[in-house]
Amino acid sequence: MNKIRFKTEIWSGDNALNALETINQQHIFIVTDPFMVESGKIESITAKLTDQNELKIFSDIVPDPPINKIISGMTALNEFNATMVIAVGGGSAIDAAKAMKFFAQRVFKKQETITFIAVPTTSGTGSEVTNFSVLTDAEAGVKYPLVTDDILPQVALLDANLVKTAPQNITADTGMDVLTHCLEAYVSINATDFSDSFAEKAFQLVFENIEKVSRNGDDLSARQKMHHASCLAGMAFNLANLGLNHGIAHAAGAKFHIPHGRLNTILLPQIIKYNANLENDLNSTAAQKYSHLAKLIGLSASNPRIGIRSLTNAICQLRKKLNMPDSFHNYGLTKETFNHYKNDIAQAALRDGTTKSNPRKPNKEDVLSILDASFG
Ligand SMILES: NC(=O)c1ccc[n+]([C@@H]2O[C@H](COP(=O)([O-])OP(=O)(O)OC[C@H]3O[C@@H](n4cnc5c(N)ncnc54)[C@H](O)[C@@H]3O)[C@@H](O)[C@H]2O)c1
Ligand SMILES: [Zn+2]
Repeated sequence: MNKIRFKTEIWSGDNALNALETINQQHIFIVTDPFMVESGKIESITAKLTDQNELKIFSDIVPDPPINKIISGMTALNEFNATMVIAVGGGSAIDAAKAMKFFAQRVFKKQETITFIAVPTTSGTGSEVTNFSVLTDAEAGVKYPLVTDDILPQVALLDANLVKTAPQNITADTGMDVLTHCLEAYVSINATDFSDSFAEKAFQLVFENIEKVSRNGDDLSARQKMHHASCLAGMAFNLANLGLNHGIAHAAGAKFHIPHGRLNTILLPQIIKYNANLENDLNSTAAQKYSHLAKLIGLSASNPRIGIRSLTNAICQLRKKLNMPDSFHNYGLTKETFNHYKNDIAQAALRDGTTKSNPRKPNKEDVLSILDASFG
């Protein structure tokens, strides 16, 4: 039995922010990152809110949001008596806002509903439609996914104008995160026809548009397509969960502080090879599904072996065109640092909630060999 449910209302396109104009008599707690305030971009949000509302802006978000920021945000949210939270930013701002709302309601025993609106400014995490929030305990060097339907946004506003200022490297990192979400949701043990339909469409959109937005960040039509891809991939993995690629990325991200999408992309070819498991089974479900994705984007895939080779080559070529590192070594990590952390990373990756739905059940040696092969 599959239960398919979508809670988030999605407004997409040029006038999506107009949804904010109808909000009235609310205490609105806006969670964002310093860039949005310093660049003045936050005004595209605040200008839509009438003065019938009270506003407070919390702009102290940093990438991979640490727990101390969540605590200060949740305290500020409570003192302000927020009735609504609007998260404006990349996955870090949206995830932090989700956690602030979730913990504030529990710690301060608030009964009232707090409406949550997510306005993504990167096309990457899909956090605007997911029940995931990824938090970082910087001291312990661990990333924790908080997964609960209580943090699903009620409304997501997808206006690609907000993404236009993302520089090439952030555009590439976040866009490849979308591709990783598609691939992981598609081969997840929880995948269904419903999640597959989102993953397939998002996968095609990324391949058609990521180079365009990387070359020209002002290409609004390609930007909007990538924004849709990010949201669709979020819908896919909200139904099917992710896999070992994210399990390792969460564990390694907490130690190496490599941007999330770039880290996923370093691992991607080795993860595909591991999941396809061609040495033991020429026709595994994962191998067939990867091969089907290759076919969808016009690559040769007359059998799973050829399909997987075409797919992996296409991803490696894309990574090169996007100026992304192809290994931890080329990212700039020293062998010493890598070796120092790799055992802890392997253990944490096996415990990560996203690893549970990987098509192949890994052990520590499997993770270590994926890591070693990705070092370069
Ligand atoms: N909740 C989920 O479902 C989910 C899924 C995958 C990843 N994540 C998490 O999300 C975080 C990564 O989010 P992200 O990749 O969106 O990046 P991010 O939110 O960390 O932002 C990266 C950088 O981009 C800047 N930025 C954002 N929008 C910009 C714009 N329009 N113009 C210029 N600069 C801009 C930010 O200021 C920041 O410096 C990680 O913590 C990751 O673990 C969450
Ligand atoms: Zn991701």
